[in-house]
Amino acid sequence: MNKDLESIVLTAEQIENKVKEAAEWLDKRFEGKNTLPLAISVLKGSVFFFCDVVRAMKTPVQLDFMTVSSYGNSSQSSGMPRIVMDLASSVEGRDVILVEDIVDSGHTLVKMRDLILGRGASSFTVVTLFDKPSRRKVDIKADYSCYEIEDEFIVGYGLDYAQKYRSLPYIGVLKREIYEKKN
Ligand code: IMP
Ligand code: MG
Repeated sequence: MNKDLESIVLTAEQIENKVKEAAEWLDKRFEGKNTLPLAISVLKGSVFFFCDVVRAMKTPVQLDFMTVSSYGNSSQSSGMPRIVMDLASSVEGRDVILVEDIVDSGHTLVKMRDLILGRGASSFTVVTLFDKPSRRKVDIKADYSCYEIEDEFIVGYGLDYAQKYRSLPYIGVLKREIYEKKN
């Protein structure tokens, strides 16, 4: 385990199982529809989860990416997520699947939902790896959430603190002393 972590939340093997369940749920949702859903990764945090989920799905999907930044270098959301890189494709008339790493305050998800439905998507489905319901500031929920966690700051498998720890193959709780000394 990385020395900056205090515990493991999900091992690589547990992540694999969560990925399979999410992919099966999505396959069921889009079964029999011939619409080629547009799967969107909210970068950078969801990148590994996104790649694993779309590869585990039987339903063919189109891929697109959007970079949203809400944190700067802190462990608290700014409340004003910023779009750093927009989608390449149009969402008009499309079934959109948004893949998120964590729904925390919910601000990012509200921004994405309003933007994508505002551009005329015909449906909007959100799959998230983690949900922190106790931290919610706005009333919004993912359609499918793999794992619920308490108010802890976690890193690994795409999730970062100040751009570090993303490439860890597992997910763990970051020691408080690592982020509290800087905030
Ligand atoms: P929200 O807008 O507050 O819901 O923030 C959502 C984004 O904040 C997520 O997509 C993550 O990128 C980031 N985030 C929230 N909690 C954590 C965490 O515990 N570790 C790493 N990133 C997090
Ligand atoms: Mg994110």
